[in-house]
Amino acid sequence: MRDLSDELLSWYDQHARVMPWRIAPADSKAGKRPDPYFIWMSEVMLQQTTVAAVTEYFRKFTGLWPTVRDLAAADDADVMAAWAGLGYYARARNLLKCARVVVDEHGGVFPSTYDDLLTLPGVGPYTAAAVASIAFNEQATVLDGNVERVMARLYDVHDPLPGAKPRLMELATALTPADRPGDHAQAVMDLGATICTPRNPACGICVWRDPCAARIAGTATELPKKTPKKKTPTRRGYAYVGRRRDGAWLLETRPEKGLLGGMLGFPCSDWSDDPQPAPPMQAEWTASGAEARHTFTHFHLRLHIMTATLPNDALPDRGHFVAHHDFSPAALPTAMRKVFDLVGAT
Ligand code: ADE
Repeated sequence: MRDLSDELLSWYDQHARVMPWRIAPADSKAGKRPDPYFIWMSEVMLQQTTVAAVTEYFRKFTGLWPTVRDLAAADDADVMAAWAGLGYYARARNLLKCARVVVDEHGGVFPSTYDDLLTLPGVGPYTAAAVASIAFNEQATVLDGNVERVMARLYDVHDPLPGAKPRLMELATALTPADRPGDHAQAVMDLGATICTPRNPACGICVWRDPCAARIAGTATELPKKTPKKKTPTRRGYAYVGRRRDGAWLLETRPEKGLLGGMLGFPCSDWSDDPQPAPPMQAEWTASGAEARHTFTHFHLRLHIMTATLPNDALPDRGHFVAHHDFSPAALPTAMRKVFDLVGAT
């Protein structure tokens, strides 16, 4: 086991990917630690999102809010707007909640153990293990999709995911060294992202080429197996793009609970198999003929876009007007941005 991790760490020393929240392997070896605020933020952003997409947002967030105290003091709407486009918006709401708990209950200092990190809002086993190991050098084990794939192949595990998770966690835990556990975690993730890739793993140049059971068995590209998913359903809905004669937009902040919670958007009907029209106010709503399509984790959404010109003294039943010069389409989540791009860009 030790040998496996040692070989991986030597590979990481030479090939670690450069990321704005990381410190160089040589510094880490010398006992330096990265800023836990940066590690926490990057790991929250990296859930379900690629490193390439996260890098730009990480720079934006740490530029606007360089410390956890700055973030805790931010306006909710500014944070949600800055997150727009990253998806899974519960992460942004929890990011703020967590920053405020760190400031209010921990004096602005991140808890430094896996168990204490787990008590923070939005911090689950994955994030707690990542922050504990990378920022605090605790021997905690990170299991994400990359690590699952690498473990399934290294040990030729054929049980399908998600059922195989506990077994893969055991295997990953047995490999985690007491020395440099954070570098080890990042090394397994880098290996999964750059060498042990889903479709065309570069086994020929892999540091774990010789010990890899799936390479020996010729099964690497089949692993990990997955329990077949049910077909993704399609839901439909109406989106109402209303504009006052003076150019102001009728927008709605979506309820905290539910999809796109806390985000700005165009008022909508329900999203379902059989949506009922639900205009946010009485007006001459006209079908634009355009349909915005967006895929969420569990369903495809098709929004029929209705448009109307509204009087300057309009009093909507739902939503609020935002003056044209105060409206930033970049603050919309992607599904709503697609609606805007189809009919709003005038
Ligand atoms: N994916 C999620 N977290 C990561 C990290 N710290 N390094 C590389 N890939 C990651």
